[in-house]
Amino acid sequence: MLHNKLPGKGTNIFTLMSMMAQQHDAINLAQGFPDFEGPLALRERVAYHIANGHNQYAPLAGVPGLCEQIAGKVLDLYGCKVDPETQVAVTPGATLGIYCAITAVIRPGDEAIIFDPCYDTYEPGVILNGGVTRHINLTYPDFNIDWQKVRDTINDRTRLLILNTPHNPTGYLWTEDDIQQLTDAVAGRDIYIISDEVYEHITFDSQPHLSLLRYPELAARTFAISSFGKTYHTTGWRVGYCIAPEALMKEFLRIFQFINFSTQAPMQYALADFLQQCPEHHHALGDFYQQKRDLFIQLMSPSRFKLIPTQGTYFQLAEYRAIAAEPDIEFTARLTREHKVAAIPVSAFYRDPPSQHVVRFCFAKHDDTLRQATHILCRL
Ligand SMILES: Cc1ncc(COP(=O)(O)O)c(C=O)c1O
Repeated sequence: MLHNKLPGKGTNIFTLMSMMAQQHDAINLAQGFPDFEGPLALRERVAYHIANGHNQYAPLAGVPGLCEQIAGKVLDLYGCKVDPETQVAVTPGATLGIYCAITAVIRPGDEAIIFDPCYDTYEPGVILNGGVTRHINLTYPDFNIDWQKVRDTINDRTRLLILNTPHNPTGYLWTEDDIQQLTDAVAGRDIYIISDEVYEHITFDSQPHLSLLRYPELAARTFAISSFGKTYHTTGWRVGYCIAPEALMKEFLRIFQFINFSTQAPMQYALADFLQQCPEHHHALGDFYQQKRDLFIQLMSPSRFKLIPTQGTYFQLAEYRAIAAEPDIEFTARLTREHKVAAIPVSAFYRDPPSQHVVRFCFAKHDDTLRQATHILCRL
């Protein structure tokens, strides 16, 4: 009999809702992926590199040209100077980067603080490494961080804080006040940070993304994680990256070499070309998704859902109290089965969900998909 290393964890909610959407032929506003293609020129570069001999193992930390482009990008965007040879690792998706960073830091008995609602890979990574998660719920309905709770939770066993901005599922963006509070909370302590910034380019209303790479004091203890899947509408390629100070990156790579060794070569060469040739793509991504957010809000305005403002990512939370009283898991199941629109129940992002009736819609969809889905949602 195998011992269950992740008791209480079944198939994740994104997979479940996508399966259900397929089974019931429902419009999938649940799982976070676009229903449109990434840039043609980028896809053509992958085909080019596959046809032209870039099909063997890439170097452990990544193709040098891509690491240089990543270093150039964070210098350009965040004023952060990193050495592409010692501080950058390209990973098979952000997910594996997060796992390797957790594994580099967490020893049995160490505590990691995570903020609920949060992305579902953080806690299993900590548990698999023998660590313990301490959960702090964000405030409702504005999803701020209660910094007093953070200070009260930090203790001598605290080894890691896992943060996410722009935040999935709420769309919350960290503020300068959050950064200051974080700086004060960890000062003088042996605490590391994983900053999950996979939606770094998707912020709205001219608000900046406050990458932790902007703040040298924090960057010195941070693994910053990003995802090319989110930036280039290519989640299936599984390519992301991690940036960390040299000493942290050494540990990260020591682990990564035994978990996956390296990341898909042709995609890396193609991404290196595209980043160099088309930086406009990531500069324009916020506006691209802001138009989708605004369209979704406008289309949903006659509905009885109450939308909770989103400042970034491609997700929109909606409270459905005026429509139904049932818990969100039942509501989303019924929505998929009977009304043919799939969404994610937000309680799935919590260990101790507060009493709220909120679902998450993904608006990374063709305008027509959004029109069809909202037409149904407005009749509820
Ligand atoms: C907050 C957050 N972190 C990490 C990931 C994983 O990114 P990737 O697909 O590159 O593994 C996602 C994907 O949805 C996410 O929403």
